[in-house]
Amino acid sequence: MEKFVINGKTRLKGEVSISGAKNAAVAILPATLLVNGICTIENLPNISDINIYCDILKTLGVKISRPEPNTVIVDTRFVSCNDAPLEMTGKFRASYYLIGSLLGRCHKAVVGMPGGCKLGARPIDQHAKAFEALGATVEIGQGKIMATAEKLVGGSIYLDTVSVGATINAILASVLADGTTTIENVAKEPHVVDIANFLNTMGADIHGAGTDIIKINGVKELHGGTYSIVPDQIEAGTFMLAAVATRGDIIIKNCITKHLDPLSAKIREMGAIVEEISGDTIRVCCNERPKNVDIKTLPYPGFPTDLQSPMGVALSTAEGTSMIAETIWESRFQYTAELNRMGAKINVQGKVAFFEGVDELYGSIVSASDLRAGAALVIAGIAANGTTEVHNLQYIDRGYENIEEKFRALGADIKRVTE
Ligand code: UD1
Repeated sequence: MEKFVINGKTRLKGEVSISGAKNAAVAILPATLLVNGICTIENLPNISDINIYCDILKTLGVKISRPEPNTVIVDTRFVSCNDAPLEMTGKFRASYYLIGSLLGRCHKAVVGMPGGCKLGARPIDQHAKAFEALGATVEIGQGKIMATAEKLVGGSIYLDTVSVGATINAILASVLADGTTTIENVAKEPHVVDIANFLNTMGADIHGAGTDIIKINGVKELHGGTYSIVPDQIEAGTFMLAAVATRGDIIIKNCITKHLDPLSAKIREMGAIVEEISGDTIRVCCNERPKNVDIKTLPYPGFPTDLQSPMGVALSTAEGTSMIAETIWESRFQYTAELNRMGAKINVQGKVAFFEGVDELYGSIVSASDLRAGAALVIAGIAANGTTEVHNLQYIDRGYENIEEKFRALGADIKRVTE
């Protein structure tokens, strides 16, 4: 078992470069199953979810080589339409993209019920609804999802809930379908646009990604090509909030500043400086105690739920009382109990948490309950007075590339220790 040991009270300063987006990468890798050819995927984050995905694809006959840690070459010319390995697909959430991809390529998908961070109920009814609208039969039971179709025919899909996963799965299943598919009430997250851009680069005909309606004209086949994954908006936001929480001054490079607008607006409201140096570089500087703000998590372009916990750390030592309303996930405040062990004063009432700002956090032994909560606790440890141990690093390693090296380069005293 590994843990981080952090000696805190560091004001983070310097430059950090953002990796490729995890949530785009875990959709683009399975999307290569729709291609009959060789894809080179660049700017891939070097994280454990990607390693698992590559292993799963290999069991489906995909040939994968990794000339560099952030590049994979994926040869999907000889895909076998077997069941996805249940013991592997149950380990993480994004395995559900195998359903749309295998359905599109093989007209048959058998995939284990997706696992992933425990954020509350994570239904997949909208995914099933999308597949059924294209003519598939979907059965869920015995720990797996089975989707089959004699043929996929374009249809109209109206999602009842704005869902990133269902939007991407609906795109994946319809790219090779006969005719035109329209998907309404879709998610507009940057990684949804990135999947559409990847597929279009390989010959798909997808319009409207990033707006409320996506239209897909089915094509006969996709060809290989080279694609570079979009920078990770959530990783960039994590470092922006680390600057606020530690009263630091960080220049964040290789990000898309436009994607960070919902967060930049809140950080400015807190009294910190957000300076767009260029379209891909942003500086966040916080010299004073941040002001209290209220946050409501919403689908993009609202405030991202995945940045709720790092924001919670920043609000723990802000002036007055702040409020966060979590509208996407029902169990996303587990990190607040850990922050309270570090001296925070957070009171959770259902889907709303109240943060009464304290003067400072102090070092403690804490455990990550999910990926983003883990990153939040690392930031809390860097800001806190004293020594903090963060346990359950497997969550953090799922989604942050070289997190401790990146924080060390900004001045943090953080070590990975094997117990
Ligand atoms: C993705 C992200 C996750 C992020 C979330 C919201 C990946 C791998 N994960 O998760 O980091 O927190 O988007 O930005 O990209 N819902 C239904 N029925 C469905 C699907 C979803 O009711 O069939 C509900 C969920 O319970 C949740 C909301 O819709 O309340 C949003 O979920 P969704 O956008 O699908 O999240 P994920 O794709 O699982």
